[in-house]
Amino acid sequence: MVAAGRPRRSCLAVPGSSLKMLDKARGLPADQVFLDLEDAVAPLAKPAARKNVVAALKEGGWGGKTRVVRVNDLTTPWTYRDVVEVVEGAGAGLDCVMLPKVQSASHVEWLDLTLTQIEKALGLEVGRIGIEAQIENAAGLVNVDAIAGASPRVETIIFGPADFMASINMRSLAVGALIPEYPGDPYHYILMRLLMAARMHDKQAIDGPFLQIRDVDGFREVARRSAALGFDGKWVLHPGQIEAANEVYSPAQEDYDHAELILDAYEHYTSEAGGRRGAVMLGDEMIDEASRKMALVIAAKGRAAGM
Ligand code: GLV
Ligand code: MG
Repeated sequence: MVAAGRPRRSCLAVPGSSLKMLDKARGLPADQVFLDLEDAVAPLAKPAARKNVVAALKEGGWGGKTRVVRVNDLTTPWTYRDVVEVVEGAGAGLDCVMLPKVQSASHVEWLDLTLTQIEKALGLEVGRIGIEAQIENAAGLVNVDAIAGASPRVETIIFGPADFMASINMRSLAVGALIPEYPGDPYHYILMRLLMAARMHDKQAIDGPFLQIRDVDGFREVARRSAALGFDGKWVLHPGQIEAANEVYSPAQEDYDHAELILDAYEHYTSEAGGRRGAVMLGDEMIDEASRKMALVIAAKGRAAGM
């Protein structure tokens, strides 16, 4: 299924405690910005960060970017105040709330109901603000189907590799990188599990951060793995990673051109046959209804990327 929705090839993390970075993020070519109130912000800095984030959203100037705020997770004392202050203060300038360390559908249901309460109280359109659910521990992964289906507001399922690796006692400090002692890709199961839950509910699937911000080749290598599976985008922690993400999560020009060719050829031959023809030849390649669907996925990603 093609998970349509807002563009999210590159999702830029911006600490809510840094006025300088909040300001700079406006002009960067990321598809999405998420203004962070969670792990990028120290506990004592959280109240000020909430105010910065509200001011930055109200001020606007984000162009066509998807505007998201990451609140603190529901095991902390901060979540409700994050949501109330940000949505009351700048709900009209916000597209989604990102909830980290989601462990069960009830976490999403709590956020859904809270958003509905605030939207009603303020006279905002009920249901417009979406939810991005970050999966960062075993409970989240085991419950991911229910989490993805917990509310129509859920737009994305996001992998949080650093917290995830810590929570399952993974013996590696290199986030997202292959582990020499393990003969395979240690993230394959997790990524596929997230992708299946996301697609079952027609949501986007987003890969998490790569911490070696100066190693853009390393970023590309990790990004290419999730892009190959069908992930829609990846977090970026530094402006230097944005272009790489936009490129890796867009189809290659050659694949995009071929997808459009398949769509045209299939349409042409089947309409010539009054819609009765099944498989047809395109050069040496046999194409049928399934080829049309595959081509549609690539073409949709390419069109969304302005190809
Ligand atoms: C992101 O939040 C991560 O834990 O990787
Ligand atoms: Mg995390």
